[in-house]
Amino acid sequence: MGYEYIAVEKEGAVAVVTLNRPQQMNALSYGLIKELSTAMEALDRDQEVRVMIVTGGEKVFAAGADIKEMADAGPFDERIQGRLAFRDRINKISKPVIAAVSGYALGGGCELAMSCDIIIASETARFGQPEINLGTIPGSGGTQRLSRALGKYRAMEMVLAGEQIGASEAQQRGLVNKVVPVELLLEEAKALAEKIAAKPPLAAKLAKEAVLKAFNSPLDEGLEFERKSFYLLFASEDRREGMKAFLEKRKPEFKGK
Ligand code: CAA
Repeated sequence: MGYEYIAVEKEGAVAVVTLNRPQQMNALSYGLIKELSTAMEALDRDQEVRVMIVTGGEKVFAAGADIKEMADAGPFDERIQGRLAFRDRINKISKPVIAAVSGYALGGGCELAMSCDIIIASETARFGQPEINLGTIPGSGGTQRLSRALGKYRAMEMVLAGEQIGASEAQQRGLVNKVVPVELLLEEAKALAEKIAAKPPLAAKLAKEAVLKAFNSPLDEGLEFERKSFYLLFASEDRREGMKAFLEKRKPEFKGK
């Protein structure tokens, strides 16, 4: 399928989705978000793909929602409501998603990175929620995910004062998994993606869902989900293969069954 605002590339079990509106700093327009959610849902269904990487390339991840598009929109405008509905679909992707962030990840761009499961950043990455400067607030999870990642006080400073943080602070505070030189960003993200892609995919999906439960539910519900998922995986061929291969001192061959 051809896309106008993104590029999708598959390399074995890893798919790389690149935001592609360089003249507008990859601003997340309605069209871009629609394509992104459509592409990610298609990759989620694609049996060959086990892990996705979302990137904006080396210069900029995304400078937020498209301000030009929102400037004269009302609250029930499709450009506002529809865009957020596409964002919700991205949040429901079941396979592991890695954000490879270089340059600005602001507003909706920061939120997009945070809705991924792992964030690899280049040394030039900058994260921020500047919506307050525009008379609004984050609308795609920024207040919630940033607070969970950074704690209340630094998140408040970023959301209230529109302050940005760089890659090294983001890593120190646990928002970013790893910081690498710009030219190695995609390589590092792919190396991690391939490592995860080699794991049994059913277990990877349930592991992702279980970790996300830690943020969405009280502890007892999360523990119950974990326990049921653990039991469920005993019905999978890959679980049998994983344990058998260990005992036979060989590499397991996972089939996603
Ligand atoms: N929407 C639309 N266009 C944008 C944009 C955005 N979010 N960010 C940058 N652009 C455009 C600029 O208008 C400019 O276009 P023109 O050449 O046609 O004038 C082009 O991208 C390059 O931008 P700058 O000239 O401003 O580049 P810079 O290097 O001087 O500054 C920047 C870069 C700091 C990222 C600056 O562009 C900026 O502050 N952008 C806006 C960031 C922002 O406020 N994001 C939050 C958006 S609201 C949001 O995301 C809501 C939500 O949660 C749902």
